[in-house]
Amino acid sequence: MGQIIDGKALSQVVKDEVKAEVPALEAKYGRKPCLAVIIVGENPASQVYVRNKVKAAAYTGMESRLFELPSDISEEALLQQIAILNDDPLTDGILVQLPLPGHIDEEKVIDAIAREKDVDGFHPLNVAGLWLGKDCIVPCTPAGIMRMLDSIGVELKGKNAVVVGRSNIVGKPVAKLLLDRNATVTIAHSRTGDLGEVCRSADVLVVAVGKAGLVTGDMIKPGAVVIDVGMNRNAEGKLCGDVDYASAEPVSSWITPVPGGVGPMTIAMLMKNTIACFLSHQKAY
Ligand code: GUN
Repeated sequence: MGQIIDGKALSQVVKDEVKAEVPALEAKYGRKPCLAVIIVGENPASQVYVRNKVKAAAYTGMESRLFELPSDISEEALLQQIAILNDDPLTDGILVQLPLPGHIDEEKVIDAIAREKDVDGFHPLNVAGLWLGKDCIVPCTPAGIMRMLDSIGVELKGKNAVVVGRSNIVGKPVAKLLLDRNATVTIAHSRTGDLGEVCRSADVLVVAVGKAGLVTGDMIKPGAVVIDVGMNRNAEGKLCGDVDYASAEPVSSWITPVPGGVGPMTIAMLMKNTIACFLSHQKAY
């Protein structure tokens, strides 16, 4: 029987850690950390995520600024908005919610965000820093996953960790973080020959592909820790993960639910990253 890793409860702990820090930062530096969030267009899922990010910032006592830009905004105008925020001494973190409309080059946008304000950890210099083992901003979802694993005290050294999915946002960075803890890491993906066999080798299984119910209980080693990053809507419109919870839960030792698992942790770690950017920003001035 899998015990639940309660992302909602743990994210509350993380947000309360940040909330406790903000008054001291304000007293020391004369202002609160400020996160700028940009959303382009009206993707309903993105709107929910962004609303929750702004709400979390308010909860922790930080400042936030929400920029809701029309879906037909030109790439140039978006880049201009980013340039203004890059130069604004009162803005510490800049987040552009992805995905962006097709006519905008996401890579260009990510590259345009000042590296030291990149709360997502998506900028090439932050990605390079992560892979070179330098102190840098770690993407929020992978950071949240590691915090969840730490919360259950699982030993990663020498264990087999399998990451299903190779995105820049989750798969690749979480694989590096698991490697940093001396896990033996395998990255599986859509072209993996026998996904079930690879998954069954995992003591820790992280699934981040965006395919509802892709991983079923028969693909899980008994006693494995299962982290489900998926956020899918099934035929009835219900939120569900990449892991088939009903068959996976009895086989696993620990498992994250969807919703209430990794999702809230992403937002909580964003608050931590905003503080980190604020502090490095203070040092720079
Ligand atoms: N879209 C899905 N996840 C994320 C994230 O962590 N950050 C941003 N900016 N966009 C996303």
